[in-house]
Amino acid sequence: MTTQRWILAFCFSLATYTCRTFGSGIVQPFKGESYYVRSDCQFILIGFTVNGKEYSVTIRRGHNGLLVQVEIIINKVTTLLQNGHVVVKSALFELRQKTGLGHRHQWRRQRLKVTHPCNRKYQHIFKYGIYNRLKSSLLPFSVTWHNVHGGINSLWVTLESELNTTTSGLCGKQNIAGHRDELIRDSKLHDHKCNTSSPVLQKNDICRQFFQEIKDCVQYNNSHYQRLCEENIFGFENNQSVFCPFFKEFASQCNQSRINRFWRRLTKCAKPRCPGDLIYRENGPAVIPSCSNPKPLPFYQELTETCACPEGKVLNNGAKGYRCIPWSNCSCEFAGKSYRNGEIRRSKCHSCTCHGVVWRCSENFCHRRCVIEGPFVTTFDGKKYVLPYKCAYLASKGPSWRIRIHFSRKGLYLRKVVVRLPGELIVFRKNKVLWNWQEITQFHQFQETCNAKIYWVSSTFLQVHTTSGLFFQIQLSPEIQLFIDAPNQSKSDDKIEGLCGNSNRNTTDDFTTETGFFPNSVQLFALSWIMGNCQGNIPTTCTKRENENYAHEKCAVLNQPTGIFAKCHPHIPTDYYYTACIPRICNTGRSRREALCIGLASYAKACDGLGVVIGDWRRNTGCNLKCQKNQEFSYNMHTCNRTCTSLSGHDFRCDMDDDPVEGCGCPEGTYLNQGQTCSPKKECACTYYGGIADPGPVVISRQKCNCENGVLSCLPDCDCKNGKVCVSCSEGPVNIVKKTCDHIGKPLDTSETCESGCYCPDHQYEDHFGNCVSLDECTCVFSGKAFRTGQQVNSRCKTCTCYRGMWQCTEKPCPGQCQVYGDGHYQTFDSKWYRFSGQCLYTLVQDSCGNKKGTFSVRVESVPCNQNTLTCSRNIILKLQVHFFYAD
Ligand SMILES: *[C@@H]1O[C@H](CO)[C@@H](O)[C@H](O)[C@H]1NC(C)=O
Ligand SMILES: *[C@@H]1O[C@H](CO)[C@@H](O)[C@H](O)[C@H]1NC(C)=O
Ligand SMILES: *[C@@H]1O[C@H](CO)[C@@H](O)[C@H](O)[C@H]1NC(C)=O
Ligand SMILES: *[C@@H]1O[C@H](CO)[C@@H](O)[C@H](O)[C@H]1NC(C)=O
Ligand SMILES: *[C@@H]1O[C@H](CO)[C@@H](O)[C@H](O)[C@H]1NC(C)=O
Ligand SMILES: *[C@@H]1O[C@H](CO)[C@@H](O)[C@H](O)[C@H]1NC(C)=O
Ligand SMILES: *[C@@H]1O[C@H](CO)[C@@H](O)[C@H](O)[C@H]1NC(C)=O
Ligand SMILES: *[C@@H]1O[C@H](CO)[C@@H](O)[C@H](O)[C@H]1NC(C)=O
Ligand SMILES: *[C@@H]1O[C@H](CO)[C@@H](O)[C@H](O)[C@H]1NC(C)=O
Repeated sequence: MTTQRWILAFCFSLATYTCRTFGSGIVQPFKGESYYVRSDCQFILIGFTVNGKEYSVTIRRGHNGLLVQVEIIINKVTTLLQNGHVVVKSALFELRQKTGLGHRHQWRRQRLKVTHPCNRKYQHIFKYGIYNRLKSSLLPFSVTWHNVHGGINSLWVTLESELNTTTSGLCGKQNIAGHRDELIRDSKLHDHKCNTSSPVLQKNDICRQFFQEIKDCVQYNNSHYQRLCEENIFGFENNQSVFCPFFKEFASQCNQSRINRFWRRLTKCAKPRCPGDLIYRENGPAVIPSCSNPKPLPFYQELTETCACPEGKVLNNGAKGYRCIPWSNCSCEFAGKSYRNGEIRRSKCHSCTCHGVVWRCSENFCHRRCVIEGPFVTTFDGKKYVLPYKCAYLASKGPSWRIRIHFSRKGLYLRKVVVRLPGELIVFRKNKVLWNWQEITQFHQFQETCNAKIYWVSSTFLQVHTTSGLFFQIQLSPEIQLFIDAPNQSKSDDKIEGLCGNSNRNTTDDFTTETGFFPNSVQLFALSWIMGNCQGNIPTTCTKRENENYAHEKCAVLNQPTGIFAKCHPHIPTDYYYTACIPRICNTGRSRREALCIGLASYAKACDGLGVVIGDWRRNTGCNLKCQKNQEFSYNMHTCNRTCTSLSGHDFRCDMDDDPVEGCGCPEGTYLNQGQTCSPKKECACTYYGGIADPGPVVISRQKCNCENGVLSCLPDCDCKNGKVCVSCSEGPVNIVKKTCDHIGKPLDTSETCESGCYCPDHQYEDHFGNCVSLDECTCVFSGKAFRTGQQVNSRCKTCTCYRGMWQCTEKPCPGQCQVYGDGHYQTFDSKWYRFSGQCLYTLVQDSCGNKKGTFSVRVESVPCNQNTLTCSRNIILKLQVHFFYAD
């Protein structure tokens, strides 16, 4: 085999171009012979530019012979390999990977400024057998390295195609062999105080014996490689991790188990150790099958040196310790419970199926909810952020509503919330609600003209349903907080915007400003929804040290793994709530304990929303709420059928699906009465149309009534006749006008007030004779005379029939009439009256118009009478085609 052939084999790749460096300084360039360089200087291993994007790999060795620093730059994103860490930096962000043999890379984002969605897509870093690999997605370019204690002992760069550009660095050019000394000279970076020493040639026994032994299976001229062996091992004769990669590369060419055993014994180069159940394999899958990925894509099934599970088993990557198990034994964990492969776990808002070790969950089928707790905002689509200024903001705006929030000057809380609906304005302040500027204390179902139903669910929470489908809960004490459910967007132009985001199930575009572009910063986003009225910044740090210590200590209860909140940890991570808890206490403007309880309540409510019941956390943390009067506290307060007013009729609150809210209210079996007390049924006051009556007898609009068990019943003492019944206005608005036949067909006066008295029963009407009849029997009236159904009257050309209280008329065309009478009074055929008193012979009507020969004419001759002042008597001349008539 020629040296040329050996190089190809060395790279064990066919259509790819590989350049390696390993040991204490061996470089195998793309083309040409391997060479050795011992230096602690920084070198460019490879550098090139494609499509204006710069790629480079620079290396530096330490005095221990290993690579101690490798810098990979791909289009301005720098990946630094140092001290066993991988650090990805760009102008915009920095990611760190914790060291370890883990098959899952754990990234911690540090010093995050602004994420650029594209940067992480430039490259992919993953475990490749016992190696690590960085693969660029811009070019078929990858860098693979092997970590050992103290640095990297082997690293190679692969280009899967020939580039259209020249490469520089120790690797040389892709197709032209370079000269060692030139390559070293041209690749050295000079900004480093460092030494490059000349190779020292010293006979080495291990090298000699090794090449002696393998000369049968690799028949090339090996004196060059024996020399490299000696240069490589010199000074590191006892340091296996430095010189072993050299022997391994050569031994692998032989592919003989005899040689394998021999060289490992000779060099004392041990096989790499594998953790847990994993077994070392010279040629195993680069990506080993695991519970979550039992059949890696073919792309990942390349063979390399690896730590793999025994045949038939997969890595249990859901547990620690690198255990190998049959795939059928893979399981998922949730909340300390193990679930078998394929098992389904259901919660209030999701159902999740176990796939190997990972959960695949359905879409959230709960209402998506925007939460505004002081400056802490969660958008409909789940993005969380903190408002920067104490201002008035547009919280959310939809086709028919607009919700504004106003910050308090004093603390980190809201002063008021203003909700505008068509024709209605609702203002929520601490413990106070104004509806169209009118304070509302009793919440009942508003009239039909109102757009909103507003009612208390507990002493602290109100619910609001609007006709347009907007639903929100609002807490009015101890602090105003808003929980807005994402309304259904039936039409695509039902645009929703504001601090709560656009509700399109996409968190990436939530920071859409009024002008529609996507600012990356919360500041800009929040600024664009300011409605004026700013009261300063919202502090992000603690100003008082003792508050800070208190906050850290007390908020930590959220994170305690065995604490009261632990039950919810698998469902909702506490980090956001913990982080929000601290500034809440530091900059509160109220008592620290109160602020702490608000912070804890915020997590508890979020858990509640997912159906996770935490338990009595308030008692556990000293956050008990005091209830007024005889109300009781509950974490799940209901109002349906718990008010005295609900006793007298259907309670509309029962129709609303209310999410559980905490607070004070009436325990089951008691009813909220006047003055916010809870009463047994029999002590309930009665609410009637227009007033409130205490239990017992009462007179309402001259009627004797009785209030009992919250229900008002009025005695029927009207002494009604003719089948009429007694109507009591206290029972509700009755439109008494509607109760007669007479009103039928007439416009209604809706402002008519109720007057108790005798009226026909439902579906009956008082006719014009004073009897109660059905609609079909309703009488009609004409010229003051009553007619029964079916009776007819004739007038002029009409015939009218009485039907259901109304006249149904048949109308024939009436013949026209022309008349003259008295002192020159005339009426034309078209009913126009006029008067004139000429004393001549006049044509009243004729059909001989123009030249046409007529068939008739009527003429009148007016003659004076009565002292000549009046025209009265006439001669009438009637002329027909055949005869003459004359009348006087
Ligand atoms: C081998 O390398 C390690 C790590 O650099 C170093 O701590 C150790 O002293 C070296 N051993 C010898 C014998 O040089
Ligand atoms: C390579 O470069 C030449 C000229 O620089 C250009 O004409 C050609 O299109 C390039 N080919 C590719 C595949 O980029
Ligand atoms: C370079 O080598 C010299 C002599 O071997 C030594 O004194 C000096 O400290 C070395 N410099 C560096 C930067 O390693
Ligand atoms: C082997 O290579 C060396 C130099 O690399 C050369 O001097 C020698 O003649 C070669 N021997 C054979 C047998 O090819
Ligand atoms: C190594 O040898 C085995 C048989 O001894 C053969 O099946 C295998 O293909 C060889 N591998 C290489 C890379 O030559
Ligand atoms: C696989 O699961 C079965 C049933 O749970 C158990 O008996 C067996 O020991 C498990 N096997 C391994 C390798 O864990
Ligand atoms: C909103 O959509 C959900 C599910 O699609 C449906 O159940 C609900 O009735 C809708 N609400 C309104 C007000 O249309
Ligand atoms: C989310 O919004 C971004 C920005 O508009 C868009 O690029 C992306 O495709 C959207 N994702 C989904 C799932 O709609
Ligand atoms: C509320 O009370 C009414 C009347 O007593 C009853 O019909 C209804 O079922 C009750 N609703 C609930 C949810 O208990």
